[in-house]
Amino acid sequence: MREPIDTLAAPGTVRLRPMRPEDLDRAVEIEKSGFRHPWSRDLLARELSHAWSTVLVAEEDPGRGGGGIVGFIVFWLVHDEVHVLNVATATEARRRGIGRALMDAAVEAGRKRGARLATLEVRRTNVPAIALYRALGYREIGIRPNYYADEGEDAIVMLLDL
Ligand SMILES: CC(C)(COP(=O)(O)OP(=O)(O)OC[C@H]1O[C@@H](n2cnc3c(N)ncnc32)[C@H](O)[C@@H]1OP(=O)(O)O)[C@@H](O)C(=O)NCCC(=O)NCCS
Repeated sequence: MREPIDTLAAPGTVRLRPMRPEDLDRAVEIEKSGFRHPWSRDLLARELSHAWSTVLVAEEDPGRGGGGIVGFIVFWLVHDEVHVLNVATATEARRRGIGRALMDAAVEAGRKRGARLATLEVRRTNVPAIALYRALGYREIGIRPNYYADEGEDAIVMLLDL
């Protein structure tokens, strides 16, 4: 995916584009403010180098007040499956449709490449994320007990047919 995608998220215009190495500092900031157990900079950087991985950022038009990166998503395209590994919106930019736009872009990229399903794991207690995925039509298909080693938390496995 090389072309930016415009979204209608208010108040500024938000474009989606592939993450570049110079975006990593800001992405790590968003990651740290969004997760109790954030991905490291190295882990994020590694995703930029995998052929099967796509990392998109949501960037707000600097002419409209805010500006800069307000969210990102990491997903893999493997065989007929889109697998979402990480999605995060900056705290101050939440509930403006950015998470939804990033998730839609992953599905769109998958459809273009012939993917038949999208899957993800989410912490059982992550109410906002589960609400987002349900709103997008994902359904719960199973539990992976103690999936998150940090706290021994279960993962809910969710699936969307494309
Ligand atoms: C989960 C997350 C990415 C959602 O991002 P967002 O940009 O705020 O989501 P959107 O504005 O696109 O929300 C779309 C829909 O999802 C649902 N939703 C999102 N956040 C919600 C919340 N806190 N409570 C209830 N529903 C929520 C709603 O249905 C919402 O539609 P609405 O605003 O019209 O009601 C964001 O809360 C976040 O970054 N959390 C921390 C990181 C994280 O846990 N990521 C997911 C695990 S990998």
